[in-house]
Formats: sequence, structure tokens, C-alpha cells
Amino acid sequence: MNECGGKLGSKIESREAVIGIIGLGYVGLPLALRFLEERFPVIGFDIDSRKADCLLGGKSYIEHIDISPLADAIAKRRFDATTDFSRIAEADAIILCVPTPLNKNREPDLSYVMNSVESVLPYLRAGQLISLESTTYPGTTSEELLPRIEETGLKVGQDVFLVYSPEREDPANPNFTTRTIPKVCGGVTDACNELGKLLYEQVIDQVVPVSSTSAAEMVKILENTYRAVNIALVNELKVVANRMDLDIFEIIRAAATKPFGYTAFYPGPGLGGHCIPIDPFYLTWKAREYGINTRFIELAGEVNTSMPDYVISKVMDALNTHGKSLQGSRVLVLGLSYKKNVDDMRESPSVVLIEKLLEKGAEIAYSDPHVPTIPTMRKHQLDFSSIEIDRDVVSQYDCVLISTDHDRFDWDMIRESAALIVDPRGVYQADGVKIWRA
Ligand SMILES: NC(=O)c1ccc[n+]([C@@H]2O[C@H](COP(=O)([O-])OP(=O)(O)OC[C@H]3O[C@@H](n4cnc5c(N)ncnc54)[C@H](O)[C@@H]3O)[C@@H](O)[C@H]2O)c1
Repeated sequence: MNECGGKLGSKIESREAVIGIIGLGYVGLPLALRFLEERFPVIGFDIDSRKADCLLGGKSYIEHIDISPLADAIAKRRFDATTDFSRIAEADAIILCVPTPLNKNREPDLSYVMNSVESVLPYLRAGQLISLESTTYPGTTSEELLPRIEETGLKVGQDVFLVYSPEREDPANPNFTTRTIPKVCGGVTDACNELGKLLYEQVIDQVVPVSSTSAAEMVKILENTYRAVNIALVNELKVVANRMDLDIFEIIRAAATKPFGYTAFYPGPGLGGHCIPIDPFYLTWKAREYGINTRFIELAGEVNTSMPDYVISKVMDALNTHGKSLQGSRVLVLGLSYKKNVDDMRESPSVVLIEKLLEKGAEIAYSDPHVPTIPTMRKHQLDFSSIEIDRDVVSQYDCVLISTDHDRFDWDMIRESAALIVDPRGVYQADGVKIWRA
């Protein structure tokens, strides 16, 4: 390790290193809080000034993240949130946590990463560590970030240090926290690797070093592709089980008792969230450069994206047995977020379900205690607000569709008062009369 790296290492160990977090969303905000917990000074950067204002005003914009520790840190001048990127010069470690969506052709959209890098470059100085945490295809850090950084005249591995360290998160899961989830990290050079490991070791119980930034990028894609493919598998098996009049949830529960060689994945109305429906396609795109088709990923995508249509067909079948057509029926959609007990709407299949139901002429209402109104989305425009439900309200609908099985719903009341329930989440035992699996 040269002198520049040595100095940075000492600053990290003594907790004098200023941590700059770029992108204060689901990934960046908990990470900022974790560094503060370990007494590091933190500056949060975001292009959205409302986020900075909210944090400085003591308001969280993510339901499950408690930002109360910020008040003390702000008072002691250990935390600031800003849109002023010139303050990058103050940071010793710069951690990029910006979105990596797909564009309309379902190809990687690295514009957020590139824009954030462009805003950092003018203020980069010797003695800084840069870590990319956004999920992306193998090669992004070494092919896109490294050359841009070196164009400034600073040499990576000598003057500045560059690593990739993917974020792992299971929002609202009380069993895991930022500190306890092991963190993978790969650097461009050995010195980068060492400093990246040192930085994350201060706040994460176990850091898992890998040999390169590309290896670290691939780890994240492997993890999320594994989920996407296995969810597709159970979604396919669900369709078979439904046709055979078998309860897929009973089957999964029993299979999960096998103490080795089986991990339970659950079917649902479709994939959602920022990661699983998107990340595998980052690899698909990159693999094409190597002349390889990622057939598993494509197939999983096909099966998973067909699920909303399958669920709608079940709503139609269920209504039909009650002498009703979907057109003109009143359908109550329960749950809007992509998974239970969170307020995250990104890529939520509930939105697709609502759009399809509306297209077919159903009258729709939704209830979600975590999502009071449907936020503005890039791909969808739905002007709805959540309704409060009780026995009276539920009984007024021809069909209740369970899209997200939040714990805050009163499931006994819903079962007792609904005329018909379509349940892709396995909340109830299906009977094919009042309660339908989908
Ligand atoms: N949410 C998760 O559970 C999760 C888990 C693992 C990995 N990831 C990955 O982490 C990355 C970030 O995801 P997220 O869920 O935190 O996204 P997010 O949308 O919640 O937050 C991103 C933040 O970045 C800000 N931003 C956008 N462009 C910027 C720029 N140029 N400069 C500064 N700020 C900018 C946005 O305003 C937003 O506040 C993505 O690559 C995602 O795939 C997310």
C-alpha cells in the first residue's frame, strides 16, 4: 500500500474518514445511517432536493426506515444532506447508490450511474475511495468508471481507489440488518481491494472479498437470477398444480421440510421490485457481447411476466361461476406494493393487474395501508387512492383479488364478508367456489 492509501486507511480506522453517499434511496439511506451509527461523519448527496430537505427536517420518505438517529447527528454536525456536489471534495469515501433500471427496449440504463460519476469527477482528489453499489452487469466498473476516473489524471490504485460492492437487502425483514448481511467487495487493484474491505469492515460484520470488480458484479447478478429463475419455476408448477386441483402452497410447505437440497420459493401474481425483474437482463445484454444467449433468464422472464394474465384469467373464471362477467364487475384489489409489509411500488404486478382489469371493463378500487395513493410512475398513470375496508365495504364487491398479502389486513373479516376471493398469494385454503387459487 502506498502512502496515499496508507493515509486513507488510517482515516478509516480512526473514523475520521468522511463518507459521501450518492443517492439517498432504499440502499443509500440505510447505509448512511449505518456509518453514522459507527460515528463516521456522513454527507448524503442526491439530485432530488426534496429528499435532502426531508432528512434535514426529520422526515423519512421510506416507511420502514427510522431516521430518528439523524436528529442528533445533524445537531452535532456529523450529518448533512445536499444537492451540492462540490462537497464531494470533503468526502474520503464516495459510495454510489443510484438506480440502474432498464430502458424501454429492456436494455441496461446506466444513465444514473454515469450522471452521478460525471458530477463526482470535477471534485475528485487524491486519497479518495470510490465504491459503486448499484446493481449492474460484470464489467461496468472496469470498463465505464475506471477510464473516466483516470481521464482526470488520477491513477486508480495509487491516487484513488475503486471498488464494486453490491448491496444486499430484504426490506422490512426484521431478521437482517445492514450490519448483519455479509457484504461482497471486489477492487480494481490489491490496494483498492484492501481499502474497500477495510471501509466496509467498520460497519458490516462480515466482508467477503472477491478477486475483481467484475466478479463482485457477477455475484449480485447470480443471486438475483437465481431468485428470478426459481420464482418462475414455482409459478409454472403452480399453473400445473391448479389444473390438477393440488394446492401449490401445501406442496411447497411440505417440500420445505427437506433439510437439504431444497429452498422454498413462492408463486405470486408476478415479479416486482427494483431488482428481480430487472437485474438478470443486465447480464442478458452483456452476454450477447460474448455471443451467448441467456436462455434460462429469458424463459424465467417469460413465465413471470405472463403471471398477471394468468391471474386475470382466474378472476374471469371465478366470476363466471358466479354468473358474472369481468366487464362491469366490481373488483377490490388488496395490496399494491410489490411485496408484503412495504410501501415500495416499483415494478409492482398490482399495477399491471389494475390496468388489465380496467382494460376489460371492471370497476376497480384498491386498499393498501402502506400505499395511500398511487404515486406517479414512469410507465403507468393511475389516479387512485386506497380505500379503508370493513365488512360493509368488502361485501359490496363482486370479487376480492389478493395481490399483496400485508399482515395489516384483517384476513378473517375479509374471508367472512367477501362474495368471492381470488388468492394468488396462498393466504387461504382454496375451495374453488368462494376462494380461488390463481
Ligand atoms: N432497493 C433494494 O432493495 C435494492 C437492493 C439491492 C440493490 N439495489 C440496487 O441499488 C441501486 C439503488 O437502488 P435504490 O433502491 O436505492 O434506488 P432508489 O430509487 O430508492 O434511490 C436512488 C436515489 O438516487 C438518486 N439519484 C438518481 N440519480 C442521481 C444522481 N445522478 N446523483 C445523485 N443522486 C441520484 C435518486 O433521486 C434516488 O433518491 C440500484 O442499482 C438497485 O438495483 C436495490
